[in-house]
Amino acid sequence: MPELSHPLQPQPCTLVIFGGSGDLSRRKLLPALYNLFLDGALPDNYAVVGTGRTQLSDDDFRKLAREGVEKYSRQPLQDTVWPKFEQRLFWVSGALTQPQSYLDLRARLNDIEAKLNLPGNRIFYLAIPPTAIVLAVEGLWKAGLAQSVGDHKTFSRVIIEKPIGRDLDSAREINEAVSQVFDESQIFRIDHYLGKETVQNLLVIRFANSIFEPIWNYKNIDHVQITVSEAEGVGTRASYYEEAGALRDMVQNHLLQLLCLIAMEPPYSLDANVVRDARMDVLRCLRPITGKDVLKYTVRAQYSSGAVHNKEVPGYRREADIKPDSTTETYVAIKLFLENWRWSGVPFFLRTGKALAKRSSEVVVYFRDVPQILFNTDPEHPLAPNVLTLKIQPEEGMSLRVISKVPGTKAKTHPVEMHFSYGEAFGVPSPEAYERLLLDVMAGDASLFMRRDAVEASWAWITPIIDGWQQFGTKWLPEYAPGTMGPIEAERLIQSDGRNWHS
Ligand code: BG6
Repeated sequence: MPELSHPLQPQPCTLVIFGGSGDLSRRKLLPALYNLFLDGALPDNYAVVGTGRTQLSDDDFRKLAREGVEKYSRQPLQDTVWPKFEQRLFWVSGALTQPQSYLDLRARLNDIEAKLNLPGNRIFYLAIPPTAIVLAVEGLWKAGLAQSVGDHKTFSRVIIEKPIGRDLDSAREINEAVSQVFDESQIFRIDHYLGKETVQNLLVIRFANSIFEPIWNYKNIDHVQITVSEAEGVGTRASYYEEAGALRDMVQNHLLQLLCLIAMEPPYSLDANVVRDARMDVLRCLRPITGKDVLKYTVRAQYSSGAVHNKEVPGYRREADIKPDSTTETYVAIKLFLENWRWSGVPFFLRTGKALAKRSSEVVVYFRDVPQILFNTDPEHPLAPNVLTLKIQPEEGMSLRVISKVPGTKAKTHPVEMHFSYGEAFGVPSPEAYERLLLDVMAGDASLFMRRDAVEASWAWITPIIDGWQQFGTKWLPEYAPGTMGPIEAERLIQSDGRNWHS
């Protein structure tokens, strides 16, 4: 099979995880590293150093990692292999607020690297709340751990998790502070949707096939829907979510990045900055939604009490750690336009929410109707349009709706679906997003990461919507029953256009 990615190789390095005993580390990062290890994809030489306030020994950290892997790993833990993996895991205790923590960390890193004969390449993964990012970066710098780019033989890189800020100003502040210490080429801002196999496939579908690109424009496409629905409620992350809401948590990053991949112009190469420029151009073309227009182009809502798959769901405002008069949205739907030639007049409908009927992410492209002749002469019963569905998760694949003749002597037509499923076609499970992303940082490939300008452009578009909601919003948000696909208002948003959500 032809190689998809670039020839960059992951380099021997030490990965330092700030917040090493936290949720992200246990659920995603340590299992991802273990899977890479099993697949023989990690560099020949490496170490993983967890750090955080919790007082742990190396053995405690290894135990914690084992539990995380047992519970969350894509491939099961193998007892024969585990000892080899865990011997490269280490722990350093220390609070982010204490300058001494960084000095302790530096001393331990020097020690581990000398013992393992590691070159001193360091990656600092900041799996910590956004409010602590600046603190950590400054701490690294003061302790001499943030080596600047230059003629060094070794590298230091920093990985930052979303959310970066909560509006344009705060995002700028964080970016500015980080850029005082690290060069943009050293900063890897994660949007884990970009690491998903099926999301990367969006580019392959578009640009490795000759049939799509000629019709990928306003002349042939009626509208596009992007849905990321989740069956879970806010779960254990209530206090974070209450401050964020669906717009900040999902649209500002994941949904807008999906939009970028669907709508971008063909990049002239796979070079990180060329691809990122192409994605960035989409963000530049977003038509602003400001002032009272938020009422016309957006819908926000909260889930009420009920059940999803027979599991009781308290209404959002009754969840623990949520204000009883909260106006944080757990659902958002948006109609948007891109002001460029390719997408002139084509509406894009985005929706995402918690406690919905099912976990499902997909991009659905509706093509224009055929002319009203031949098989489409009855205006009462128009032919269904062709629909291309790009399935991101949990189903992974693609389907295309075409109109076919019903067998028999009459000229009767019926829509049929053509399917492609990843599992069936390739027979191997897709790697987790974090596996690919960690490897890319070790290789120094930033294509699947967010550049500063893109983060800020997303916030520049999102912030006026937040402001509009504040100015023109109602005291109570509309509600939707858990286990449905959202509020009636979202149906109206799309139906007022003569269209329907894909089901
Ligand atoms: C995270 C959000 O970025 O993405 C969560 O903070 C959300 O609220 C999650 O549940 C969804 O990711 P995935 O990979 O499960 O679709």
